[in-house]
Amino acid sequence: MSKKILVLPGDGIGPEITAEAVKVLEVCRDQFGLDISWDEGLVGGAGFDATGEPLPPETLDKAKAADAILLGAVGGPKWDKLPDISKRPERGLLGLRKELKLFGNLRPAILYPQLADASSLKPEVVSGLDIMIVRELTGGIYFGQPRGIRELENGEREGFNTYVYSESEIRRIGKVAFEMARKRNKKVCSVDKANVLEVTMLWKEVMEEVAKDYPDVELSHMYVDNAAMQLVRAPKQFDVIVTGNMFGDILSDEAAMLTGSIGMLPSASLDENAKGMYEPCHGSAPDIAGLGVANPLATILSVAMLLRYSFGEGEVATKIEQAVSKVLDQGLRTADILSADTRKVGTQEMGAAVVEALKAL
Ligand code: IPM
Ligand code: MG
Repeated sequence: MSKKILVLPGDGIGPEITAEAVKVLEVCRDQFGLDISWDEGLVGGAGFDATGEPLPPETLDKAKAADAILLGAVGGPKWDKLPDISKRPERGLLGLRKELKLFGNLRPAILYPQLADASSLKPEVVSGLDIMIVRELTGGIYFGQPRGIRELENGEREGFNTYVYSESEIRRIGKVAFEMARKRNKKVCSVDKANVLEVTMLWKEVMEEVAKDYPDVELSHMYVDNAAMQLVRAPKQFDVIVTGNMFGDILSDEAAMLTGSIGMLPSASLDENAKGMYEPCHGSAPDIAGLGVANPLATILSVAMLLRYSFGEGEVATKIEQAVSKVLDQGLRTADILSADTRKVGTQEMGAAVVEALKAL
């Protein structure tokens, strides 16, 4: 039966980059014979503008019915001042993650050898870098209750959020990390702030318990402040990093930058049954939206992750990754990864080059 993908372009550069990813899906269907089809939906600011909701009910229904979701990006200054936080574009994304129970967020940080120059770190520090950040995505301080802004008796306002994780939430993301490590270099580093926060003391304890089922995988623990430092000092010490929602948000941006450009990194957000939403790690980049200069490679690589993790099409996924590598070999670069002796191309030209490389494989 045909597998259905819901494409959610979103805001900012989202429509431009997903358009290139869709061209890659077309090659997968027409040339590699994958039985796939897709439909589009509105989310984020685009959803709000059209319907008054960042996650229109119709989009949620389509997302539930789809086998996988490909998302561009959400958010932008246009909606930053919306007084009701529940209407902000980001809520559309968070709502999808929560409603679809996409608790397991995989964010690989891989350095393409062709881009070693684009990293702000010395080539010897980052060459060969291959880290997988496993971020818990539907819990922690992002979703904890109670939350809000209240007025105190003295008339002053106070903002508050709740950082909470249950044992079962920690255990299930722990398993994702250990399973992932088994397929890689068999090391998991769990990142916490167990010297201060009870919730991460429990996190650490539960990770130790999970580790007992994986004697072949080495578990270590690191405080988040140290992890942030180690990522720029000696990033190659890491294989799989597992951490909570907010620490993972921050560390994954940091790790992405080690690779030269956040414009290169895809991500997968998976539920218990490997149904997933796939999106580039970068945001909607409103400053370059509509200019045709955004890097579509992270979104194209997100298609590869989609095929690998949700559709079991690892071979085609690998081909897409090879096509991206080939285009980099050809010296084509969008502005974010430009370096000496390379040729600057726009979003569409980059997409077209990947399509050509893919067809030739
Ligand atoms: C991310 C983004 C989101 C997050 C925002 C847009 C809500 O930064 O996917 O990393 O904080 O999770
Ligand atoms: Mg983020």
